[in-house]
Amino acid sequence: MGEDPASKVYVANKKKACEYIGINSFEYKLPEETTEEEVIELINKLNNDNTVSGILCQLPVPKHINEEAIINAIDPKKDVDAFHPINVGKIMTGNYDFVPCTPAGVMELIKESGIDVTGKECVVVGRSNIVGKPMSMLLLHQNGTVTVCHSKTKDLKAKTKSADILVAAVGIPNFITGDMIKEGAVVIDVGINRIAPKTLVGDVEFDTAKEVAGAITPVPGGVGPMTIAMLMKNTLKAAEVNKTV
Ligand code: GUN
Repeated sequence: MGEDPASKVYVANKKKACEYIGINSFEYKLPEETTEEEVIELINKLNNDNTVSGILCQLPVPKHINEEAIINAIDPKKDVDAFHPINVGKIMTGNYDFVPCTPAGVMELIKESGIDVTGKECVVVGRSNIVGKPMSMLLLHQNGTVTVCHSKTKDLKAKTKSADILVAAVGIPNFITGDMIKEGAVVIDVGINRIAPKTLVGDVEFDTAKEVAGAITPVPGGVGPMTIAMLMKNTLKAAEVNKTV
């Protein structure tokens, strides 16, 4: 919906991934002035279309649209972003079908790198519904000792410096600097910040952080592609759950 430039890039990348692995994707590009009722009508149509396995609404939505109403309208069984309150609740209990794509991508990177989360000090900087909150739950399910930091956190540096695993998801360019990181820590940068037309940077100042981190993800090319891979995984799962393949 609307004209968010970053959304256009994300949606194009998602479509490309679908094409690459053989999932049919259908894009509904809705103009800025679309009403909430019209969007919900479209979602209902897709909810009831048994050739559609998964649905996502790229965020952010225009200001006059209630984001929560849109998320709530998506059939939880087709909610491949795992944003619907039913799926959010399932993430809390640990009995879930869909995992939110970005936190799932982070967990996959950790697992594939042979890093055991059990007993580790995990610090998540950022408390968004899309990343920070579900991220903390997934780390907790893997037996991490989790601290969630945010804009009101006192002495942030003391918290980040205690982290064995540090996840930065604040959306502020180069916010986490090398001096805020413990020697040998695993640093995962979820930020994608466009600071110039062709320059993307993360929430972590890579050059200073890489000198102290034991492992670190770059931006671009770190968590971003994992988010899309996890979306594909959720969509395949949705196809199985909804018996649309
Ligand atoms: N906007 C930023 N990240 C996301 C995401 O993971 N899913 C959707 N639908 N919108 C987003």
